[in-house]
Amino acid sequence: MAARSTVPSVRGRKVRRGDVPLVMVTAYDAPSARMVDAAGVDIILVGDSVAMVVLGHDDTLQVTVADMAHHTAAVARATPSSLVVTDMPWLSYHVSVADTVTNAAALVRAGAEAVKVEGGRKRVPMIEALVDAEIPVMGHIGLTPQSVNAMGGFKVQGRRQDAALALVDDARALEAAGCFSIVIEGVPDEVGRMITDAVDVPTIGIGAGAGCDGQVLVFHDVLGLEERVTPKFVRRYAELSTEAVRGLSRFAEDVRTGAFPTEAESYSATRTDPASMRGLYGSAAPVD
Ligand code: KIV
Repeated sequence: MAARSTVPSVRGRKVRRGDVPLVMVTAYDAPSARMVDAAGVDIILVGDSVAMVVLGHDDTLQVTVADMAHHTAAVARATPSSLVVTDMPWLSYHVSVADTVTNAAALVRAGAEAVKVEGGRKRVPMIEALVDAEIPVMGHIGLTPQSVNAMGGFKVQGRRQDAALALVDDARALEAAGCFSIVIEGVPDEVGRMITDAVDVPTIGIGAGAGCDGQVLVFHDVLGLEERVTPKFVRRYAELSTEAVRGLSRFAEDVRTGAFPTEAESYSATRTDPASMRGLYGSAAPVD
């Protein structure tokens, strides 16, 4: 069995020191958490991408702390060995430091071992308060999906030199505030490398090139379950949506033609002890 991933074990991972890159994948419920954990990933991210890939919204702005706690609890029930990190949703860490800590505490009580917040230097007071409250924080800079309206869409960030340097400053500020790792999303490869070189905590890239200390993808993208949009940075490792439709179509066909169920999928009072059937159906146990 793989050793449990912890915040200190993740914090120390840096490719330039000879470490193997970190692997993070999202999960939003117990079955997906069991699969991701069985695959041996280091970190499970209960991402606010749940809003888009599970709940059908067009952005991540629609989920609340209660939604994120609900999904975090389902992931935690799978008792994964991977570290469980939960996204703080939009507006749960923007209003006041006190609200930020209270909202993060709700996620920790639901099963998160750390929280992730989007944004650079302006988040420092919130991050410091969380770290003071013993809540580990993962940062997230570059293309921050909660800023979709402010950015004018899901757009690659840091293409200009001043913007790239500002991202490096952001990463340094997040590290100094106590973040144990930083997600870098949607920046040119060179900028991903610059940021990674500038900090001693691991960077985890998504659309940020091969120079990061780890990579993260969304469960539904890796497995071919999300077909509406496929960003350039996604590589699919399975086509589960196609396979699922094939399986469900076969079930529908079998029901319609009478091929399902057969005796193998049916109960029979002559083959089963009626007393044990009561365990299944109460006193109304079916008998032939
Ligand atoms: O919500 C999410 O899935 C994320 C990843 C894209 C990093 O924040």
